[in-house]
Amino acid sequence: MTGMETGGLLYRVWVPPEPESARQVRRHLEDCLLRWGLLDRFPVEAVGLVATELFTNALKHGKQDGRAVLVVARWRGEVFRVEVHDRNPQGPVLTWPTDQDTEGRDLVLVDALCQRWGHLPKRTGGKFVFAEIPARKEGV
Ligand SMILES: Nc1ncnc2c1ncn2[C@@H]1O[C@H](COP(=O)(O)OP(=O)(O)O)[C@@H](O)[C@H]1O
Ligand SMILES: [Mg+2]
Repeated sequence: MTGMETGGLLYRVWVPPEPESARQVRRHLEDCLLRWGLLDRFPVEAVGLVATELFTNALKHGKQDGRAVLVVARWRGEVFRVEVHDRNPQGPVLTWPTDQDTEGRDLVLVDALCQRWGHLPKRTGGKFVFAEIPARKEGV
């Protein structure tokens, strides 16, 4: 159970597998928040950051071989969820980088901004990585 099977709102987009698409991914998700009337309820910066980090990981580790990357946004209640699909069945691993490391920091950020994240296999092969951004607390 992922807790998101029913209800809520859903948006899907396929994005070209290029680093330049990161900006497009961010815009698509910001548009979702705008259209769904959620700009006051969810931290737009955090949603954009999480989405671009997951998208970048799909390009870097996802074995896409030139295929477009499916990005999904789901909103239900107090959770805004981002999913990025790729072709690598292996999931991401949270590593704690040292001061010298220049890589391996992305998921630390995702972990800090999200209440829950993980990955699930796809029947057609590959997997998707999901990350759930919580609504702002009332009055913050
Ligand atoms: N979409 C993914 N598919 C497979 N492995 C992944 C994916 N995203 C991340 N990983 C694994 O988790 C590790 C940590 O990811 P991350 O913190 O984003 O660091 P980086 O991308 O700089 O290596 C990666 O080195 C990689 O081994
Ligand atoms: Mg990364």
